[in-house]
Amino acid sequence: MSSSQPSRFPIQPLQRFQGASASIKRPREIAHFSYDENHEYKDDESGINYYCPPQIGADLKEGFETFRHYEDQEDAHLDSLLRALVEKERREGWRCNADFVTWRGMMTKIMTAPFDMFAEFSMFATLHDGTIYIEEDFPSRHAERAAQSSRPTPSHQNPNQPSQKMMTYWGYKFEALSLTPTLPSETPREVIEARTQNPVSNYAQHCSIISTSFGPHTLILGGEVDGLSSPKPPPSVPDVPIPWIELKTTEELPPRPHQSSRDILKFERKLLKFWAQSFLLGVPKIIVGFRSKQGILRGVQEFETGKIPGMVRRGTACWDGNVCINFATGFLAHLKEIIREEGVYKITLRKKAGVIEVGKVRADGTGEIVSREFLEWREQM
Ligand code: A3P
Ligand code: MG
Ligand code: MG
Repeated sequence: MSSSQPSRFPIQPLQRFQGASASIKRPREIAHFSYDENHEYKDDESGINYYCPPQIGADLKEGFETFRHYEDQEDAHLDSLLRALVEKERREGWRCNADFVTWRGMMTKIMTAPFDMFAEFSMFATLHDGTIYIEEDFPSRHAERAAQSSRPTPSHQNPNQPSQKMMTYWGYKFEALSLTPTLPSETPREVIEARTQNPVSNYAQHCSIISTSFGPHTLILGGEVDGLSSPKPPPSVPDVPIPWIELKTTEELPPRPHQSSRDILKFERKLLKFWAQSFLLGVPKIIVGFRSKQGILRGVQEFETGKIPGMVRRGTACWDGNVCINFATGFLAHLKEIIREEGVYKITLRKKAGVIEVGKVRADGTGEIVSREFLEWREQM
């Protein structure tokens, strides 16, 4: 254990992050992988689905009893992301270098922290061969989730209100209703219509791994993508964005004359998470399914990811995309300053603390953050 005090990176004042955003390179896919119905790693595109509009009026509760809900029981670290990099390096014969390697979710948490008073996170980071690897602190996330699901219904909560698990189900049910495993034009009508009856599972997935940069910092990020709105362009045309879509559900807004500014504020706050998550991987379109309080799908609306920050600026201005980007750029610079030697570092934001702490928790090695497979591969490369 190192006895040194953790460093402190204050979030406020945000003025120091205002103005034009640091130059960002458009994300480019460098690798991908899938998980199959057993959540086993596949070095292929088998997990890709295609968007085909869902039937409005569908009940998102339907089939809840047969939900196959995959939740990591063990810490998966960065293993599958690094495995895909090993496969790529083996095929191509050169190293994928970057200043940072992490899951997209970690960057989403960092980017959105300036505009989320209640944000909290805990991550581990390590420096290996010039690259900082960042993972989520699995024990803390796991403990939080377990506490959430075993918690009795609070007395102030309406017993008719859906459970946490039901609300999670709605999100996956919306995906099942909106996707087909082949292009819609090549999918038989019966298959499209049978979607309402298909069991819902989140075991299978497709993940895209991209390289990008925030100012001078280069990053490799991996994250799940929900589907494609049209065929994936071949890798020989790397300059066109991949037509990925992100599916999201949210409660419908009351009809216009009854909309309060609070309703709009609540929705625009949600757009921050939607935008950051999709922006990071270069997902150009977000398709939002609006549902009633009781989980009936009332409509869908498509949003262009790149237009969301402007929409919010002209609306409630409750967040600023440039500030998010500049804040993340500043924080990455801070990490580079602090994480300069081997060992494991913990990155913590406590709820309402207003400051991100980075402290060393292990003097040497890379903990379990970097997989053995990856270390051995790089060793002999
Ligand atoms: P919604 O986002 O529509 O609620 P993603 O949108 O990232 O593709 O995730 C798909 C669904 O997984 C979500 O649908 C939600 O149901 C569930 N989910 C994702 N992250 C979650 C989290 N942190 N807590 C609870 N459920 C989550
Ligand atoms: Mg998803
Ligand atoms: Mg989604």
